[in-house]
Amino acid sequence: DKGNYRHFMLKEIHEQPIVVAQTLGSYLRAVEEQVALPAMDADLSRISRVVIVACGTASYVGLIGKYWIERFARIPVEVDVASEFRYRDPVLDPSMLGIVVSQSGETADTLAALRHMKSAGLTTAGIVNVPSSSMAREVDLLLPTHAGPEIGVASTKAFTCQLAVMASLATMLARLRGLLSAADEAEIVRHLGEAPAAINAALAHDADIEAIGRRIMGARDVLYLGRGADYPLAMEGALKLKEISYIHAEGYAAGEMKHGPIALIDEHVPLIVIAPSGPWFEKTISNMHEAAARGAQVILISDARGIADAGEGPIATIEMPEVHPLIAPIVYSVPVQLLAYHVAVAKGTDVDQPRNLAKSVTVE
Ligand code: M6R
Repeated sequence: DKGNYRHFMLKEIHEQPIVVAQTLGSYLRAVEEQVALPAMDADLSRISRVVIVACGTASYVGLIGKYWIERFARIPVEVDVASEFRYRDPVLDPSMLGIVVSQSGETADTLAALRHMKSAGLTTAGIVNVPSSSMAREVDLLLPTHAGPEIGVASTKAFTCQLAVMASLATMLARLRGLLSAADEAEIVRHLGEAPAAINAALAHDADIEAIGRRIMGARDVLYLGRGADYPLAMEGALKLKEISYIHAEGYAAGEMKHGPIALIDEHVPLIVIAPSGPWFEKTISNMHEAAARGAQVILISDARGIADAGEGPIATIEMPEVHPLIAPIVYSVPVQLLAYHVAVAKGTDVDQPRNLAKSVTVE
């Protein structure tokens, strides 16, 4: 049931404050200001490396997880798309933790990757939304997302819930390694706890985003830039736009732009710059200026401080609440999803059932 919403996708975007809160509710102990994971047999304090495998949107959760786990827990992380993982004969050993991320829990390549990890003796964990799915049953440690059923083919609420779990896991691994003081953990828990309200604040910009969507709907190509943990979100934005509006889009690490894609830039190319104020802001904005100087139609997604500091260049801005860099990828998912949604609606495509795509890809 779509309720009062025109599409399942829009309904699911708007459910995010609730489902992210629900998901975090099972991983955060608010009173103790600690993260908590479901009980498991394996000892996560001793793992040597992490490998994260997933497809599509879920794979971007893996890439963001790499930034978080390496930063907080100082454990090396590799991320693979599931269709490549087995066939490159990865170097695996039982001291590693293998993580799969999947909304459906049935994606053929991801399931095969999970079985490959298990046969190599890895401890496995799964960030999975469907509790009765094959992956949920087969992993050693099930880390459920509580997004509820996701009907729209474009993944939205599952993605932000997966990020919430990934952030909790990174925090737990950091604590188990003795790298996190109680005060630092309490601070992370507080920031994660702020995510649902910040998502709500982001949703309030729906009308501005709709107007920007109408401005860029005629584009043939759209580029997305981000840096650090916001770089995979640029790829997620591009995937979302491709998938439902059929506009060609690419997500790039902001600093990579001048190594090739800048050649594409002219006044017909919208450039979506994801740049919350924080550690990577200045550098990303200087990349934004390089593109604006070449005529790019820059749309800057930042907070009030960032928008003020960015100065001239953007043709439009989308203002987000000011948030801690840890939760920025969660909160900035909202404008990225809404932009793709509104462009698709303006173009009149079938938003919930885009052509050629299946909700769950159960063949290789
Ligand atoms: O069910 P899964 O999370 O394993 O699905 C993985 C991808 O097929 C999925 O995320 C796909 O990329 C989405 N349609 C993206 O919106």
